[in-house]
Amino acid sequence: MDLSTIISPVSADFAMVDQKIKAQLVSDIPLVSEIINYITANQGKRIRPLIALLCAKSCDYQQSEHIDIAAIIEILHTATLLHDDVIDVSDLRRGHATVNRLWGNSGGILGGDFLYTRAFRLMINLKNWEILDLISKTAQTIAEGEFLQLMHCRDLMTSEADYLKIIAFKTASLFQSAAKAGAIIAEKDQNGRTTLSNFGLHFGIAFQLMDDVLDYQGDVDLMGKNIGEDFLEGKPTLPLLYTAQNCSKNQQDIIKKSIKNKELRNLPTILEWVRNSGGIDYTLNLAKQHEASAIDALSLLPDTLFKQALQQLTQFITQRNH
Ligand code: IPE
Ligand code: IPE
Ligand code: MG
Ligand code: MG
Repeated sequence: MDLSTIISPVSADFAMVDQKIKAQLVSDIPLVSEIINYITANQGKRIRPLIALLCAKSCDYQQSEHIDIAAIIEILHTATLLHDDVIDVSDLRRGHATVNRLWGNSGGILGGDFLYTRAFRLMINLKNWEILDLISKTAQTIAEGEFLQLMHCRDLMTSEADYLKIIAFKTASLFQSAAKAGAIIAEKDQNGRTTLSNFGLHFGIAFQLMDDVLDYQGDVDLMGKNIGEDFLEGKPTLPLLYTAQNCSKNQQDIIKKSIKNKELRNLPTILEWVRNSGGIDYTLNLAKQHEASAIDALSLLPDTLFKQALQQLTQFITQRNH
C-alpha cells in the first residue's frame, strides 16, 4: 500500500495542512524566505501530520483544529531535521542538498530556530493549554534524546535499553504527540488519550528502528539521504550494537577502533559484517513487534475508514524503502 492511497480519507484536510504550513512560513527577511522556499519545495513523506489528522478523525472530531495540529507537528519535525543535519554533518536530505550544505551551519541552525518559533506561534493561536503543554514538553524530549545520543556517540557498549530510550525520546515522542493531540482536541477521555499516545509511541519506535535498518541497507536514491551515515557519525544504532556483541573478538576490535578513530578504511567491510551478522534481522524483528503493538493499541477505536488508514500506515513502516 503506498502513502497516496493511505492519505485518501483525509486528502482534503491534507491540502489544507499544506496551505496552513505555507501561510505560516513567511518572513520579510530575504534570506529566511530563500531558505523557507527551498524547504517547502522539497517536502517529505508527511507521516506525522497524517497521523494527527487520522487520529483526530478516528475520534470523530468534526472541527478544524486538527489542521493546525498537523501543521504544527510537521513544522516542528522540519525544524528538528534542519538541526539534525547540522549535528550529523549530513549533506543530503529528501534527495537534495541539505540547508547546512547550501547555507552553512548558521543557515541550518537559524532556519531550524525560525521554524520552531513559527510552530510555537501557531500553537499559541490555538489557545489550548493541554496542547501547548504536550507539544512544548515534546520539544524538550526531542532535544534530550539528541543529547542522550550525543553522550553515547562512538560507545559500542551502549545497551539496547539505552538505545531504545534514545529513539523513544528523539523520534517516537513526536509521533506520540501527533497521535495524542488528535485525541485531546476530540475531547476523548483519559483512556482514549492513553490509547492513542501508546499507538504513537510504538509507531515512532518502529519507525526509527526501520530508519536505522535502512541506514545500513537502504538505497540512497529512494531514501533521498546518504546510507552508512550512522556508522560514519559514530551512532551506536541497534544493527551495529547487535553486530558488535555477536561477532568475533577480532572483528569487535576492528569495529571499536574504526568507530573511535573515525577510520573510513574498514567501512565497507564493517557494513558487510552488519548486514551478515543478523543485526539487520534482529532490528527489523523488533520493529515488527512495535508495529504489532501499535496496531493492537488501535483495537479500542471504532471501525472507520480512518482507523483502517492508521492500520495501513502502521504496516507501511517496515515495508517502506523511503
Ligand atoms: C526522518 O523522518 C527523521 C527520522 C525520525 C528518522 P522522515 O523519514 O519522516 O522524514 P521526511 O519528513 O519524510 O523527510
Ligand atoms: C532523527 O534523527 C531524529 C530527529 C530528527 C530528531 P536521525 O539522524 O536518526 O535521522 P536521519 O537519518 O538523519 O533522517
Ligand atoms: Mg541524528
Ligand atoms: Mg541525521
